[in-house]
Amino acid sequence: MKTTGGTDDQKRRAAERAAELVSDGDVVGLGTGSTAAHAIRAIGRMVADGLDVRGVPTSFDSRALAREAGIPLRSLDEIDGVDVAIDGADQLDRNLAAIKGGGAAHAREKVVDAAADRFVVVADPTKVVETLSRSVPVEVLPDARAAVERDVADLGGDVTLRRAERKDGPVVTDNGNLVLDCEFGTVDDPDGLAQDLSRLPGVVEHGLFVDLVDEAYVGTDDGVDVRTRE
Ligand code: A5P
Repeated sequence: MKTTGGTDDQKRRAAERAAELVSDGDVVGLGTGSTAAHAIRAIGRMVADGLDVRGVPTSFDSRALAREAGIPLRSLDEIDGVDVAIDGADQLDRNLAAIKGGGAAHAREKVVDAAADRFVVVADPTKVVETLSRSVPVEVLPDARAAVERDVADLGGDVTLRRAERKDGPVVTDNGNLVLDCEFGTVDDPDGLAQDLSRLPGVVEHGLFVDLVDEAYVGTDDGVDVRTRE
């Protein structure tokens, strides 16, 4: 369910501009995905130049990349809060409601991103839409899979268990859970759907991020389009 489209240069422009928001002494949420990876590398270069920050990774991959980039790391329970979080998105609407979880990292991403004083999404233009319409990733406890599938169907969703690509069987998240990709067509009421999904027993976290994103930095071919909530 990884998103495609957008160029690496567009992603890099967005991420490097967002990395400029990080100041000395900050605790920084380090997002997951190909766009957030550019921000992690940029922050790593700033650390090499003397910037004093601590990073809170949102996934196995962002932790590994941040270590490689030389960013000192902390877990969320070791710090008092997050000053700024920089993360990607699979889709983003004009109110900055987002769908995340293409890389199955949305549960930890939501915890870190929601803890941030300032949460900035970095994206390429293909992610920006009028109305959200991608399938919504839902992380579930393995034992609850069948029950959640039935509940999501009752909400009008068409459910597909996310399967691994180079392993037989399902994707297993960094937290040991499964991911159901839930297709609802156009999501006209992201907040209502987010609440409905959060209420289902067995759901660990879903990929709808509503009222969480403060700004979006969208990289273009010649600059960065900064968007705030309408
Ligand atoms: C990870 O699970 C996702 O939420 C990513 O943040 C999202 O898929 C964006 O990734 P890209 O920047 O690679 O498109």
